Amino acid sequence: MTDLFSPIEVGSMALKNRIVMAPLTRNRAGEGNVPTAMNVTYYEQRATAGLIITEATPISAMAHGYPATPGIHSDDQVQGWKKVVDAVHAKGGKIVLQLWHVGRISHPSLLPNGALPVAPSAIKPSGKAFTYQGLQDFVTPRALDAEELPSIVADYVTATKNALKAGFDGVEIHAANGYLLDQFLRDGTNKRSDQYGGSVENRMRFPLEVVCAVVDVAGADKVGIRVSPLNPFNDIRDSDPQTLFNAFAEALSPLKLAYLHAVEGGMTGEKTPPFDFVALRKHFKGNYMANLAYDKARGNAAIASGNVDLVAFGVPFIANPDLVERFRLDAPLNAADQSSFYGGTDKGYTDYPTL
Ligand code: PHB
Repeated sequence: MTDLFSPIEVGSMALKNRIVMAPLTRNRAGEGNVPTAMNVTYYEQRATAGLIITEATPISAMAHGYPATPGIHSDDQVQGWKKVVDAVHAKGGKIVLQLWHVGRISHPSLLPNGALPVAPSAIKPSGKAFTYQGLQDFVTPRALDAEELPSIVADYVTATKNALKAGFDGVEIHAANGYLLDQFLRDGTNKRSDQYGGSVENRMRFPLEVVCAVVDVAGADKVGIRVSPLNPFNDIRDSDPQTLFNAFAEALSPLKLAYLHAVEGGMTGEKTPPFDFVALRKHFKGNYMANLAYDKARGNAAIASGNVDLVAFGVPFIANPDLVERFRLDAPLNAADQSSFYGGTDKGYTDYPTL
């Protein structure tokens, strides 16, 4: 019987199990947003996962939206990430880097020369930005000119080359959770009247240009993508997510990516409208990775149903570096301490006990 412990080929990667560590923002990068020795320890401790997806990683200086998130756009960052990758590989793990551009979910204080955040349209998100000076109101972003988009595609390409230089097994394109690519996809944040806005086909254009460019440098078998059709996080909205994401999955399908990764609801347990994730996965002829509050039993049931190939676990991996072993033994799980999720020291980061 196929279950969470069954090996699987995902693109170019032979995974020892289907238990994936989800991307988790932890805000513990060092000076210059460079991964530190403590970050190396954190990932190394979790290398028994079939696959680790790194925390969301800004592709350029303009892609940052939170303090202390480790980038992949400077040489020092590449060297820092290389130590993470080498440690995970030495423990027999596989690891992909999540490529991130936050778009409008940022603040001038986090951007070069106090620049305005950029977005498909000049629409201010409701809520507040996390900055080095604490929470501050979001600002109205600057709408990108179509002529500027190739330079953002080029940043994705450079970031992908950097990730490969650092030795990553692949990359995951972050097209979820209300960040730049999601902002282009959705009709609530994309009000453009050019070829990048309006119809579903036009709204998918920029995200697909990014995917194709990343595939050109990495090879499709080293590229995954993450979407979150229902997640209202970051004030994102769409009038018809099912039509949009079915079409997106259908457009991605012929590219033969390593996997499609879906957050199957609201990230913080919000009530969400109905959505058919089985229909979504059927539009994508490839591996489907499910995420959102799964446990061992639900993960095994999802894989047994044939509708899910891999399951990504977030909070359980924060608190249980040996999650795979605990699942195997049906051992109790450590509870996660929410207060140390974002920022801080080794406390609540590398000090969770193993069995
Ligand atoms: C967060 O910092 O809360 C965060 C970052 C990236 C995500 C989701 C949440 O995709």
